[in-house]
Amino acid sequence: MEKIIIQGGCRLRGEVNVSGAKNSALPIMAASLLTEDETVIEGVPDLRDVHTMIKLLRSLGAKALYQDGSVLIRAGKGLNPVAPYKLVSTMRASVCVLGPLLARTGRAEVSLPGGCVIGPRPIDLHLKGFKALGAEIDTVHGYVHAKAKKNLRGGNIYLGGSFGSSVLATGNVMMAAVLAQGRTTIESAASEPEVVDLARFLRKMGAKISGEGSHRIEIEGVKKLHGVKYRIIPDRIEAQTFMMAAAMTGGDVMIRNVEAQHHHVVMDKLLQAGVRISEKKNAMHVRRTGRLKSVDVTTLPYPGFPTDLQAQMMALMAITPGISVITEKIYPDRFMHVSELNRMGSKIFLEGPSAIIHGVKRLSGAPVMASDLRASAALVIAGLVADGETEVHRVYHLDRGYEKIEEKLTALGAKIQRAKE
Ligand code: EPU
Repeated sequence: MEKIIIQGGCRLRGEVNVSGAKNSALPIMAASLLTEDETVIEGVPDLRDVHTMIKLLRSLGAKALYQDGSVLIRAGKGLNPVAPYKLVSTMRASVCVLGPLLARTGRAEVSLPGGCVIGPRPIDLHLKGFKALGAEIDTVHGYVHAKAKKNLRGGNIYLGGSFGSSVLATGNVMMAAVLAQGRTTIESAASEPEVVDLARFLRKMGAKISGEGSHRIEIEGVKKLHGVKYRIIPDRIEAQTFMMAAAMTGGDVMIRNVEAQHHHVVMDKLLQAGVRISEKKNAMHVRRTGRLKSVDVTTLPYPGFPTDLQAQMMALMAITPGISVITEKIYPDRFMHVSELNRMGSKIFLEGPSAIIHGVKRLSGAPVMASDLRASAALVIAGLVADGETEVHRVYHLDRGYEKIEEKLTALGAKIQRAKE
């Protein structure tokens, strides 16, 4: 096991390049199962989750290889449609092989992902979608067994829930529908940029999809898809994590490889908080010289404030004078970072799905425990401004989603290093 040690008190300055989006890469890698041809996915970050997906694809009988930032996948004939517990339990996104396997082989057995540290994460909407496409679904011995009687056929599917729309359910159903007979309409579809990226990838493979980015996606099934070469979008959450870090440290950072339209809500909140942001070509310049101002935030599906940035925003508000309220509407239990931030001297109180944050003058470095990917990022950026030394334990969570984080922060002037436990 490894830990990250941070000496607080630096101002981040310089340029940083954002990697490709993990949450685009994973479903797009799964979508490669839809063709016998080779697909080449470019700009894929070198992350633990990406390597877990490679292992999963191999266990299904596909050839998959990570090479110089690209993933090469060939899912020839004779796929084995069983995704084992051992892999699915380490990465919930494994569930997105269900749709492609069902479409390609007419059968899929995928272990139920089970609980997760950020709260319950059911897959009922995925299954509802497959049923609407004519699949028979059974859950036995902790596995989902999905079977298409003959062929999947198009259908009208409403995928909404009380929280809004589900990202991976939309992607999964879209992947199953592209090879189904006839027309499928997904109502209340998720509109996240990663769903749009997946739709573009599928269209490049020959799928007929329209409406991605809106809440209604239409798909006309085709008989066959072909291989493609495709570059995924930049990781908006990684970019936003650097925006928070620049804001916290009173820094001056040029964040490169970003798509500005993915950041409107976060830019708006940061501007309200007293941070200066200017958009450049494929880049954002983030600076803070003045005092921070408290702002309230509620997480919502895109284009609302992302749940994946909630913990990092909380770290920023923890050192902002005044009181702010952060309400979590996607995963009401996603607050494992609160007690760890409080160990560093923050004053955060939980009231149901809201955190009330009383800004403090300074945080104090301490040993803390990472609980999930985004919580780890929040603790690392909190460590950048804390007095003295912060040790973040269980950094394997961080390695699931942030490529070369210490290298990138070091280049910006942070004092951060990795060490063995
Ligand atoms: N939900 C259901 N039923 C379902 C599916 C989801 O009730 O069948 C609920 C969930 O419990 C949650 C809400 O829907 O309350 C939203 O979950 P969603 O399905 O949208 O999440 P996801 O698709 O499983 C992706 C990202 C998450 C990110 C969420 C929300 C990937 C691989 N994961 O998960 O990313 O938090 O969307 O934006 O794309 C992360 O990167 O740290 C991460 C957790």
